[in-house]
Amino acid sequence: MTNFDLYSFLQGIKVLEADMLNLPFDDGCFDIVIEKGTMDVLFVDSGDPWNPRPATVDMVKAMLKGVHGVLKSDGTFISISFGQPHFRRPFFEDPELTWSFEYQTFGEEFHYFFYTLQKGTRMLRSTGCESEKFIPPSISLLHEELEGEDYLFRASVEDLNS
Ligand SMILES: C[S@@+](CC[C@H](N)C(=O)[O-])C[C@H]1O[C@@H](n2cnc3c(N)ncnc32)[C@H](O)[C@@H]1O
Repeated sequence: MTNFDLYSFLQGIKVLEADMLNLPFDDGCFDIVIEKGTMDVLFVDSGDPWNPRPATVDMVKAMLKGVHGVLKSDGTFISISFGQPHFRRPFFEDPELTWSFEYQTFGEEFHYFFYTLQKGTRMLRSTGCESEKFIPPSISLLHEELEGEDYLFRASVEDLNS
C-alpha cells in the first residue's frame, strides 16, 4: 500500500487519547476493542506475579470492567500480550465479566498470546445453551498450562534441589 493509499484509508478514522482506566465512551458502543501491550503496563510494578499487589489488581479490574462496559452485548475484546494465560485468566474470568476466554500462542522461544474474549458467552460453547452462568476453568486445563515451560517460573532453586 502506498502512503497515498494509506492516508486515504485512514480518512474518517477518529483518533483519541484517553485513560484506559477511565474510558470516555458510553456503555455498549463498540463492536470490538483491541489492545496490544497496554494492559501489560499495569503489571510493571505488580510485585509477585502469582500474588499481584492490590493496587495492580484494582487497576486491571478497572480497565477490564471499562472495556467490558463499552463493548456491545456481543462485542469482542482482543488482547495481545506477553502475559501468560495462568496470570491473565483470573482477571479475564472475573465473575463480573460475561466474556468467554480463548487464546492462541505465538512465537518460538519467547511466547506471546492472542486472547479473544467474546462478551456474553461465558458458558460451555459446545452446549449451545444461552447462559451467562460463570463456569470456572477445569483443573485439567490449569494442569496442562502448568506442565508447560511456563511452570519453570514457579520453580525455585530449593525445589530443583529437593
Ligand atoms: C508497551 S506500550 C504498547 C504500545 C503499542 N500498543 C504497541 O504495541 O507498540 C504501552 C502503552 O500504554 C500506554 N499507557 C500507559 N498507561 C495508560 C493508560 N492509563 N491509559 C492509556 N494508555 C496507557 C503507554 O503510553 C504506552 O504507549
